[in-house]
Amino acid sequence: MPREIITIQTGQCGNQIGAEFWKQLCLEHGISTDGILEDFATNGTDRKDVFFYQADDDHYIPRSILVDLEPRVINNIMESPCGNLYNPENIYLSKDGSGAGNNWASGYSQGERICEDILEMLDREADNSDSLEGFNLLHSIAGGTGSGLGSFLLERLSDRYPKKLLQTYSVFPNSEDSSDVVVQPYNSLLTLKRLAKNADCVMVLDNAALTRIVSDRLHIQKPDISHTNQLVSTVLSASTTTLRYPSYMNNDLASMISPLIPVPKCHFISTAYTPFTSADADTAKVVRKTTVLDVMRRLLQPKNKMVSTLPTKSSCYISILNIIQGDVEPTEVHKSLLRIRERRIAQFIPWGPASIQVALTKKSPYIHTAHRVSGLMMANHTSIAGLFGRTLTQYDRLRKRNAFLDLYRREPMFADSMDEFDDARETVVDLINEYRACESENYLKGPADAATS
Ligand code: GTP
Repeated sequence: MPREIITIQTGQCGNQIGAEFWKQLCLEHGISTDGILEDFATNGTDRKDVFFYQADDDHYIPRSILVDLEPRVINNIMESPCGNLYNPENIYLSKDGSGAGNNWASGYSQGERICEDILEMLDREADNSDSLEGFNLLHSIAGGTGSGLGSFLLERLSDRYPKKLLQTYSVFPNSEDSSDVVVQPYNSLLTLKRLAKNADCVMVLDNAALTRIVSDRLHIQKPDISHTNQLVSTVLSASTTTLRYPSYMNNDLASMISPLIPVPKCHFISTAYTPFTSADADTAKVVRKTTVLDVMRRLLQPKNKMVSTLPTKSSCYISILNIIQGDVEPTEVHKSLLRIRERRIAQFIPWGPASIQVALTKKSPYIHTAHRVSGLMMANHTSIAGLFGRTLTQYDRLRKRNAFLDLYRREPMFADSMDEFDDARETVVDLINEYRACESENYLKGPADAATS
């Protein structure tokens, strides 16, 4: 029985990366942009039903809800060649259509007003599944809608579906990009509180690292959002391959997440991918010899990581799951794992075994790639705390000047006090401390011992 996953795409970023994800899934499963199964794909053994269901005429429809507070992005999607793919009943566009103005508080308040409509769509999709496993929220943490409305939905969903997994693909802003939203530290901090408290697993997509990879690794001179989103869709599709191509392990989200997240609070996962390819860049078309060992080594190299944090002396992996795609013998994987362990290339937590797992999965037979093997690393690494630390520093700088707070005071949650900001700050400090504590040998003995080691 499939363990279905419902995707919720919110705001500009969530909907744009969602559109790329569905485009990629259609290609991989041989589904046309109208949802029709191509003739060459009728005998596939893949599991399309985790992410799609079939209408009465058998065409495939994404289990997806598209939500935005302004119409432009969703209208663009509906006018694109994939426009017919989605169920029109699963689209929520705000009636006044003016967005959340990059204000988390506005997105959150509008969420409170419109949640009944959205929950009705989600309940309908949930009832339409045989064995729903959970929800995937796609959003950015820096704007107003994906962050504020996304935060509200996370709170509501964890209340309403306490037994279902809540996973997010959360886009973190590029702090080096001066054109980015000026109040993004406020929005990011408030969203981080919900990601820490209400999500089971957060896949961190860092725009700073993605932009660096596009320019340094793919050698694209003027990277734009479409290049970044190509990488995002690669991560989204690769991280779901074990769910879509059944094999002997990691067939559902729970079995994938549980070894990756031994400490429930530390559920922020970063990714690395290799080899990068791009149709737009000649240098990225060069084909190398790829072996499993090659791929696993490269995944551990900082240049292939999609999070812009620098490891410190004490930072370490809590766990790793490598998803290796291609025609590979399990013995090749076994040998490579031994080699990686022998060479101690990766430093792990001092209080538990080096948890490095490998899931072997098929590649889509309908997409030709020049590389024999490719890999996605999903890693739980304590250096992710550096990313939260950066948000905290930027937040403190803005807050010290009380800059732009009027925008937030207009919304009920902030009308009388700024306590919500203080509470979110405390949650993020706690989160950073938990990751730091994980670096200590005494972690399992409790916080007091860990702090004194
Ligand atoms: P409002 O515009 O306030 O209604 O909220 P929103 O959620 O629609 O905002 P948006 O999604 O545009 O969030 C802004 C942040 O997302 C910025 O950091 C952008 O750089 C980033 N962003 C926006 N669109 C994309 C996208 O398609 N891909 C990626 N990777 N980042 C994006």
